[in-house]
Amino acid sequence: MTRQLTPNDATACQSLRLRGLQEAPTAFSASYSDEAKRSASDAAARVTPAADGSHCVFGAFTGGQLAGILAFVRSPREKLRHCAELCGMYVAPEFRRRGHGGALVEAAVAHAQSLPGIRQLKLTVNASNTAARLLYQSRGFTLVAVEPDAICVDGQYYDEELYLLRFKPPANEAPAREAHASSEVFSPVEIKVLERGDERILCNVAAKVFDYPIDAKLTREFLDDPRHHIAVAIDDGLVVGFASAIHYVHPDKPPELWINEVALAPTHRQRGLGKALLNALFNVGRACDCAVAWVLTGRGNAAAMALYSSLGGIERVGDTGPGNALLGYTFALTEGKRPIYERPPEALGVAAAGWEAGATPLVTQPDGPRS
Ligand SMILES: CC(C)(COP(=O)(O)OP(=O)(O)OC[C@H]1O[C@@H](n2cnc3c(N)ncnc32)[C@H](O)[C@@H]1OP(=O)(O)O)[C@@H](O)C(=O)NCCC(=O)NCCS
Repeated sequence: MTRQLTPNDATACQSLRLRGLQEAPTAFSASYSDEAKRSASDAAARVTPAADGSHCVFGAFTGGQLAGILAFVRSPREKLRHCAELCGMYVAPEFRRRGHGGALVEAAVAHAQSLPGIRQLKLTVNASNTAARLLYQSRGFTLVAVEPDAICVDGQYYDEELYLLRFKPPANEAPAREAHASSEVFSPVEIKVLERGDERILCNVAAKVFDYPIDAKLTREFLDDPRHHIAVAIDDGLVVGFASAIHYVHPDKPPELWINEVALAPTHRQRGLGKALLNALFNVGRACDCAVAWVLTGRGNAAAMALYSSLGGIERVGDTGPGNALLGYTFALTEGKRPIYERPPEALGVAAAGWEAGATPLVTQPDGPRS
């Protein structure tokens, strides 16, 4: 399982980081002695995800144990905000070659794609680190430069390679220049949170994404309503997936984000797009000050259950539906607020009533993941 870390993971994250700096010192520009000086509060701050998604640490887990880590950092500087960097990748030796490194990179790429305006991801790797170089290359990163003698460890100098993963610019944005062929590796699908005025985007939708034909009047009403949200995956102008949600308030609870539906065209499943769409909605939820997001799915929908678990969803105890057919997941969006799943069970009765009001769209589709 891979998910964003929270301050609760600070101790495990810091000890894995220190272990990595000792075990593989040439893989990192930081040194063990620098990092060992960090205070506990500094370590906690480091794993606290930024509300705007600009900084977070992904963790890969096996049997509840933190097996690997990867940090994502977006520059706050105006001229560099279109770039983000991956750093601190480390998988403990006993957990290597099990897909954790790849899963961490994929989670970070999906996160980058969920943030508006990010155009490229970069990372540096020791030129002698074959495992890491192959890992990044296998996930679409391409080598763009080599810095000779970039780091010095125990008196020995090592070259560092700069790798880039470039995302396709939005369809309405002309490329600033002809990109050099060697660095022109575009990830093909754009994730976009639709806003008022984006109705035209839903005019071109792939088969089996929505249940019924798009209705122009309902689309306008949906996009005009600031409490309704929809993130779409667009492949060459065609909408190939979406996730929709509503954020609501209640007199005794902080705002919550209810994920209504998630669907991908059969041609675009198992490519990380479901995660990217939900991460985009989670960022919307954070912007709306939602403490949690939640979703219901049919217990027979293995794909949806795997998707929600991989995003750190926690199973809810109160949402079963008729015949115990439904399963709910809660996602903590912000720290410092009390998630609904930590409240007394009677409080869940209030939330559980939500599925009755909107039961129909939540029922599992026969041919794909639905919320
Ligand atoms: C590099 C590292 C993160 C890989 O983690 P991992 O969990 O073993 O990677 P995965 O199992 O997800 O492997 C993904 C791909 O990476 C490549 N790869 C990983 N380890 C490899 C190795 N030892 N030899 C060759 N290729 C390797 C392969 O292409 C692999 O795909 P495949 O196994 O499906 O063919 C891990 O070896 C590590 O932590 N090394 C020490 C720290 C480090 O080098 N960090 C990188 C700093 S830039």
